[in-house]
Amino acid sequence: VGAEIGDNAHFLIKEINEQPRTIARALSGRLDERFDTAHLGGLNLTVREAREIKRVKILGCGSACYAGELGAQLIEDLARVPASAEPASEFRYRNPVVEPDTLYVAVSQSGETIDTLAAVQELQRKGGRVIGIVNVVGSTIARQVDGGIYLHAGPEMSVAATKSFTSTVVAFVLLALHFGRMRDLSPSDGRRIITGLQRLPDQVSEILQNEAHIAEIAKELAQASSVMYVGRRRGWPVAREGAQKLKEVSYVHAEAYPSAELKHGPLALISPEMPTVALVPDDELLDKNTSTLSEIKARKGPVIAVAHRELPTELADRTIVVPRNEPELDPILLSIPLQLLAYHAAVALDRDVDKPRNLAKSVTVE
Ligand code: G6P
Repeated sequence: VGAEIGDNAHFLIKEINEQPRTIARALSGRLDERFDTAHLGGLNLTVREAREIKRVKILGCGSACYAGELGAQLIEDLARVPASAEPASEFRYRNPVVEPDTLYVAVSQSGETIDTLAAVQELQRKGGRVIGIVNVVGSTIARQVDGGIYLHAGPEMSVAATKSFTSTVVAFVLLALHFGRMRDLSPSDGRRIITGLQRLPDQVSEILQNEAHIAEIAKELAQASSVMYVGRRRGWPVAREGAQKLKEVSYVHAEAYPSAELKHGPLALISPEMPTVALVPDDELLDKNTSTLSEIKARKGPVIAVAHRELPTELADRTIVVPRNEPELDPILLSIPLQLLAYHAAVALDRDVDKPRNLAKSVTVE
């Protein structure tokens, strides 16, 4: 997981392929199988302080914010603490109410993003307690916060975030598990999450072995002028991140919508010219998600589904099958094919994959 490109055509594909190892590193030394919880030594919160937290507010920019949206759902689901995520770039400008019993979480791969740093400083000025989820050790945000979780994902060289996204979600699972087990998460649910986390690296490898099939689909996507991404619940932040990946590296326009919002406007865009990438995990929302696919197919929109089993052609023209884990952890696996779709669409269009036009790896000036 170093900074050398080796035999890889691009850093982006190198970093996508590193994810079995980077996820294992994010977990390393942090799983407590005796008490079915997570050890997070750097948080700097006493058990009492951690129990008194009434709310969690997550701040970040770009992919860091989308990972935070998954993080908010994880914290609500596992720890039953109200949680939400917001772009740090908006938060800092709206004179937010800063509450003493809210835990603020700043997410940044680089630890240098100016908007995220400004949000942290504003919070601290007003007495807010801020922890960081950061990759670069000793970076400005890592030094500024009161404690945190390092990703240990190694240098991320490609502008588009990949391994830092999945590692951030893993860090949020650990945080949610840690808080959950101090509140009312049962030991058996704690064990269920730990066992699921331990299965992730091999399952990610399994998805990566399917690269050739995903690359074929990406070539078709690259022909489109615009692509819709849809998902529900945990699939929604995954859709947002997937659309962002496609836009930034292939320059193909993409939009992400929560599946149920399609009928409130964007369904008007669906046509044979506009493919939809849909997240369709085999969870309690499967029926809802398949009816979304029928709505799209009825408008003759091509569908690429990311699912736990092959879908019938009446619902999806193409299916990318991913292994199933626990519902809380499935979004990590569902996001991997979307990274590969974006990468291979960019390669098909001969884009500057690692340094897309107009973008910087970390935005350190206003
Ligand atoms: C830039 C990058 C994105 C990244 C965002 C936040 O816009 O192009 O890939 O998600 O900054 O970066 P950070 O280092 O704070 O996670």
